[in-house]
Amino acid sequence: MKKITIAIDGFSSTGKSTLAKQLAKELGYVYVDTGAMYRAVTLFAMQQGLISDSHFDKKQLIAALPQISLQFQFNPQLGFAEMYLNGQNVETEIRTLEVSQQVSRIAEVSEVRAKLVEQQQKMGADKGIVMDGRDIGTVVFPDAELKIFMTASPETRAQRRFDELTAKGQQVTYEDVLQNVVGRDKIDTSREDSPLVKANDAYEVDNSNLSREEQFALVLKLAMEKG
Ligand code: C5P
Repeated sequence: MKKITIAIDGFSSTGKSTLAKQLAKELGYVYVDTGAMYRAVTLFAMQQGLISDSHFDKKQLIAALPQISLQFQFNPQLGFAEMYLNGQNVETEIRTLEVSQQVSRIAEVSEVRAKLVEQQQKMGADKGIVMDGRDIGTVVFPDAELKIFMTASPETRAQRRFDELTAKGQQVTYEDVLQNVVGRDKIDTSREDSPLVKANDAYEVDNSNLSREEQFALVLKLAMEKG
């Protein structure tokens, strides 16, 4: 079977990463979570005091971009790659609600996008990759052989994210998580550079009414047909 590129885009907390990880494992492909890269840049900006609820020093962030090095390192115990920011494992820190609350403002900055897209295109140069994000089928790999666009109702997604965060011991309310999910959708779909849109040739998967197993079977079948 020839190796292909699989692009999985969609709204936040639609189960993109769960599906992408499963697919990559089944096909022996590399999995790349591009949201982790935007989250790591956000963590950097927060650590440097460049962004908070009340301010954002965009110029300083752009000037500091060459100091940001992002790397994925496979963790065999977990079975997936973890995010490293300037040599530090930041996998836990980047998943907090605090980072989620700032990340979409960071992802609006074209200079940030250009840096990350370049790195993503290099990672996928040899195909055999499953990449998830918001602009993979439209900007990063417009020629991907298989494109999936995932949706689900905001309430379904907020519940999923709330369950994930509380399982990790984070103190959050369902209302705050719902507000974050809806707020990020709004910024992600309306930004000027690379807004979240379904590529014309993407298959839409609405998982409000499909089980994980059904979704996986459907997408695996599509991947087999394309490969
Ligand atoms: O996928 P995840 O929810 O972790 O992504 C976090 C945020 O990063 C998104 O809400 C979006 O603002 C940004 N993002 C993006 N483009 C991508 C991946 C993520 O703008 N390819």
